[in-house]
Amino acid sequence: MKILVTGGAGYIGSHTAVELLNAAHDVVVLDNYCNSSAVALERVAKIVADETGRPAQLTAVEGDIRDRAALDTLFSEHDIDGVVHFAGLKAVGESVAKPLEYYENNVGGSITLCQAMQAAGVFNLVFSSSATVYGEPPEMPIREDFPIGVPTNPYGRSKLMVEEVLQDLARSNERWSIALLRYFNPAGAHVSGLIGEDPQGIPNNLVPYISQVAIGARKRLSVFGGDYPTTDGTGVRDYIHVVDLAKGHLSALNWMQGNSGVGIWNLGTGLGYSVLDMVRGLEKASAREVPYEIVDRRPGDIAECWADASKAAAELGWKAELGLDQMMADTWRWQSMNPDGYKKQGQG
Ligand code: NAD
Ligand code: UFG
Repeated sequence: MKILVTGGAGYIGSHTAVELLNAAHDVVVLDNYCNSSAVALERVAKIVADETGRPAQLTAVEGDIRDRAALDTLFSEHDIDGVVHFAGLKAVGESVAKPLEYYENNVGGSITLCQAMQAAGVFNLVFSSSATVYGEPPEMPIREDFPIGVPTNPYGRSKLMVEEVLQDLARSNERWSIALLRYFNPAGAHVSGLIGEDPQGIPNNLVPYISQVAIGARKRLSVFGGDYPTTDGTGVRDYIHVVDLAKGHLSALNWMQGNSGVGIWNLGTGLGYSVLDMVRGLEKASAREVPYEIVDRRPGDIAECWADASKAAAELGWKAELGLDQMMADTWRWQSMNPDGYKKQGQG
C-alpha cells in the first residue's frame, strides 16, 4: 500500500515509517519540520536499506497539514491508500500558553486533512490519540470503554476534540475506516541508534530528560512528587517502546482492510513503572549515575496510569514485546551516539 505519514519526520512518525517501509509499503511523509529535522528521514532510508537490502520507497514532502492546496496537490500526485496522522503539537505546558496554536494545528489541521482525504476519496485514517483523553480514571488498568475524562490542558482537549470530529465523520459516511490509537508513554529508540527522540530545548518528558542528565547535558532530574499513593511515592506510567508502538500502526492499517467505522485501541504494555524505576533503568543501561531531587508535584499530573492492552491483542493481534531493559538500552544508544540529536549534522 502507499501510505501518507503526516508528521513522519517526528519521533513516533520516523519509527513508524521504518516499520511501514520494512513491510514493503510505500511511504510519503508530509512534515513542516516545526519540531523535527529532515535528517531523521535520511536516517529512516538508511535503516531500511541496511535492514532489507533494497532502497526505501520513501518520498519526503515539506508542507503543512493546514495547507489545503498542498494536500490536494499531494493526493493528486500520489495514489494514497491510507493516512497515518501524527502531525501536531504536543507540549502540554506550551499548549496552556498558546492554546490557539494548539487548536489550529491539532484540530484545524486534522479537519483540513480529512477534507482533503474526502475530496481525494481516501477514507483510511489512523489517528495519534493519547491516554490523556481518560483524564483521571476511576481505576487501573485503563480500558477503552472507560468514560472519557476531563483533560487538564488544551493539548489534551485538542486530542479529545479530534476524536469526536472523527467519530462524527465516520457516522456521516460508512466508507470511512478510522483507528483512534490511544498511546500511553512512548519511550526508547530504534535499535540502530540512528533515530530517536530529539526534543527542542528542555525536555518535557521523563525519559529524554533522564538521558540528558546521564550524558551530562543537565545537572539533575527534578522528580515531580514523592508523595503519591504508589509503590515508592513517585508517579507511575505505562512506558511503551516506540518500535512496539510503531508496529501497532501497521496492525491498525491491516484492520482497516476488512472493517469500517471507528476502532479505538489503547497502545500500552499493561505494566506500570515509577519515576525511580525509570531512573534506575537508565542508570543500569548507561552505567552512569542520574542525580535527582524530589520536588513538588507537577500540576495536572495523575498518580498512576497504565493500560489494559487486551483489546488491541484480541482485535489487532498486536502486543508490546520489548521490555524496560531494551527500552533503556536503546534510549542510551541513541543519546550517546547523538548527544546533540540531529543537530550534529548542522541541520534541524
Ligand atoms: P513530534 O513532535 O516528534 O512529531 C510531530 C511531527 O509533526 C513533527 O515532525 C512536526 O514537525 C510535525 N508537525 C507539527 N505540526 C505540523 C503541521 N501543522 N503540518 C505538518 N507537520 C507538522 O511528536 P511525536 O512524539 O512523534 O508525536 C506524534 C503524535 O503522537 C502527535 O500527534 C502527538 O500528539 C501524539 N502523541 C504523542 C505522545 C508522546 O508522548 N510522544 C503521546 C500521545 C500522543
Ligand atoms: N516526571 C518527572 N520529572 C520530569 C518529567 C516527568 O518526575 O522532569 C514524571 C511525571 O511527573 C510523571 C512521569 O514522570 O509521573 C511521566 O511524565 P511525562 O511528562 O514523561 O509523561 P506524562 O505521563 O505526563 O505525559 C504523557 C505525554 C502526554 C500525554 C500523557 C497522557 O507526554 O502527551 O502522557 O497520555 F498526554
